[in-house]
Amino acid sequence: MIDRKILVLGGAGYIGSHVVIALKAAGHRVSVLDDLSSGFRSAIPHDVDFHEGEIGNEKLLGEVLRVGQFDAIMHFAGSLIVPESVVDPLKYYQDNTCDSVNVIRAAVAAKVSSFVFSSTAAVYGVPTVIPVDEQAETRPVNPYGASKLMVERILADTAAAHSLRFAALRYFNVAGADPDGRAGQSTEGATHLIKIVAEHLAGRRGAVKIFGSDFETRDGTGVRDYIHVTDLADVHVKALEHLLSGGDNLVANCGYGHGFSVREVITAAEKVSGRRIMTEDAPRRLGDPAELVADAAFARKVLGWTPRFNDLDLIISHALRWESSLDRPD
Ligand code: UFG
Repeated sequence: MIDRKILVLGGAGYIGSHVVIALKAAGHRVSVLDDLSSGFRSAIPHDVDFHEGEIGNEKLLGEVLRVGQFDAIMHFAGSLIVPESVVDPLKYYQDNTCDSVNVIRAAVAAKVSSFVFSSTAAVYGVPTVIPVDEQAETRPVNPYGASKLMVERILADTAAAHSLRFAALRYFNVAGADPDGRAGQSTEGATHLIKIVAEHLAGRRGAVKIFGSDFETRDGTGVRDYIHVTDLADVHVKALEHLLSGGDNLVANCGYGHGFSVREVITAAEKVSGRRIMTEDAPRRLGDPAELVADAAFARKVLGWTPRFNDLDLIISHALRWESSLDRPD
C-alpha cells in the first residue's frame, strides 16, 4: 500500500519524528502539524509539508484537514511526564484529553477514515499479572495514564457512532534512536532511564539515581520492557495500513514481551560504552510499579509486526550515538 496522505500531529517530537521517517520509507505522503513546544523543526525532513500550530486550534486544524484531504491522522501531540501529571493534572487533561477531543471532532467533520493514537502502558497502573495483555484491567495510577485512557474510550465511542476507525497503541518503555542517525530524543529534562544514562555518559548529568532497590524483582530494581523507537514506528505503519485496508479498530501493546531491570540497563550501558556509570540509590518514585512487561503477541499476530531491533545493547548504542550527536551544531 503506497501513497496515502497522512497527517502526523506532533511529528517534530521524539516518537512522531521516527514515525514520519517510517511513513516516508513506506511510500506515504506525510504532513506534520506541531507547535514545537517540545519538538524540533530540524526533526522534520525538508520534503515534509509542515504546519506550525497547536492541535487545540480548531480553526487551524480544520483548515489543514480541509486542504490536505487526508486518509489518516496519527496523533502524537501531548504531554508525557508522569510526575508532572501528578502535580499539574489539569494540564494533562487539557493537553491529552480535551485537545484530543478537538482533534477527533475535526477528524469526523473532515471524514478522515483512520486514526492512530499514542496511548501508554500507564493505562494499566500496577498490573496484577505480568506480562500484561490488552484485556487486563485498566486502572491508571496517575493523571497521565488516566488522560490517555479517556481518549481510548472517546475513540471507541466515536468509532461506534461515526465512520472513523482507530488504533490505540499502548507504548511500554520507548528508547533508542534512528539506526541511521536521522532522529532521536532531543528534549531536555527527560525523565526516562535510557535517556538519562545517555546524558550521564555524555557528561551532561551527574550520577544516575536508582529509584528503589527494594522491589520484588530479581535484583530489587524496577523491571521494564524497553522497545526500540524504530520498531515502535514500524508498529504504527502496520496499524495504519491495517486501518486503511479496512481492518477493525484495535488496541495493541507495543513492547517485546521481556523486561530488564534498572541495574541490567546500567550494566548493559557500561558494556556498550566501555565506561563506568556512577549510580546513587534513591527512594522509589511515587506510583512506579515493580515490573511492567507487555504481552506483545497481539501486535505480532494481528498486524504482522516483526521487531527488528529487539536487543538492549543495540537500543542503548543508538541512544548513545544520538546523544553524542547533540554536542555538534547542525
Ligand atoms: N529509573 C531510575 N532512575 C532514573 C529514571 C528511571 O531508576 O533516573 C527507573 C524507574 O524507577 C523505572 C525504570 O527506571 O523502574 C524506567 O523508568 P522510566 O522513567 O524510564 O519509565 P517509566 O517506566 O516510569 O515510564 C514509562 C513510560 C511512561 C509510561 C509509564 C507507564 O515512559 O510514558 O512507563 O508506567 F507512562
